[in-house]
Amino acid sequence: ATGRAADSAAARAIGLAPGAIRPRRLRTTPALRRLVAEHRLDPAQLILPMFVKETLDAPAELQGMPGVVQHTLDSLVTAARQAAAAGVGGIMLFGIPAERDPEGSQGCAPEGILNRAITAVAEAVGDETVVMADLCLDEFTSHGHCGVLADDGSVDNDATLDRYAQMALAQARAGAHVLGLSGMMDGQVAAVRATLDAAGFTDVVVLGYTAKYSSAFYGPFREAVESQLEGDRRTYQQDPANGREAMRELELDLAEGADIVMVKPGLPYLDVLAQVAEASPVPVWAYQISGEYAMVEFAARAGAIDRMPAILESLTCFVRAGADAVLTYWATEVAEHLNAAAAGRAGRR
Ligand code: PBG
Repeated sequence: ATGRAADSAAARAIGLAPGAIRPRRLRTTPALRRLVAEHRLDPAQLILPMFVKETLDAPAELQGMPGVVQHTLDSLVTAARQAAAAGVGGIMLFGIPAERDPEGSQGCAPEGILNRAITAVAEAVGDETVVMADLCLDEFTSHGHCGVLADDGSVDNDATLDRYAQMALAQARAGAHVLGLSGMMDGQVAAVRATLDAAGFTDVVVLGYTAKYSSAFYGPFREAVESQLEGDRRTYQQDPANGREAMRELELDLAEGADIVMVKPGLPYLDVLAQVAEASPVPVWAYQISGEYAMVEFAARAGAIDRMPAILESLTCFVRAGADAVLTYWATEVAEHLNAAAAGRAGRR
């Protein structure tokens, strides 16, 4: 570009010579670019989702998510320690039980795999990072829906709230500090909050999946939790066509007492994230979901994109759009990368 490019009306209006205003000036060196960056990533704002499967003898890598595994309890604890050592802000646990039933009983059973995992991880790393659990029935139900079913086969909202409340108690007793309410039942935040408080768990944090869309990008996750779902979740998750509806969900979750709100999926929904972040008085998190992970991994394997720069760019864009923290399957790797980059700069001095 020549000086002509900056020969703007604004420059002329205040009498500057053509070419005096050059935004490129602030892009000239890596050090200057780092200094003027409006947003930066920190390990503390990354949250690692992890899968633990009851019937495994050894960790099993997922086909749809190369680099992500279903853990045994032992390998889960080891990986949680590694994440905590890297400074990852939190860990979100998902369980795959040996037995499923229509009510998702294993989600509430104290000896259920998820609840045992919460205790094991909390004992291992509970002082160094925040231990969170997915509070939803879909991993535990034989039909794969996020709630219990009515006689006509539809998902019964209010009957599901009772199950969520029981599950919340089980997770709080197991030692979870944050409960991730991902089921998209109306009234779920209020139901869980009231039950936790009545049982004395007033410090357990409720993370509302406030705007959660019915997304085709959840595909690899369904493999990860061996979902039994036939059909879809369109009667409870939001229609991707609707942006305004997210603001209504935000109002409701806040009124019901959500401590943190979430937008999910991530990159295709940055407009929704930005709107929610603009309006929310509580922290706003975003979930970079399984399909987003898969797209980058498979594109990189095909040689189409440069993997780590793409990962860092995507996470930076979440933060720019207003996310205070991001759930990402790359949390540990990115945290280690950021730590190494910082150590490298320190080492050069
Ligand atoms: C539901 C839940 C889902 C995900 C997180 N919690 C799947 C769904 O709604 O079908 C998806 C996360 C991902 O795709 O990475 N418990």
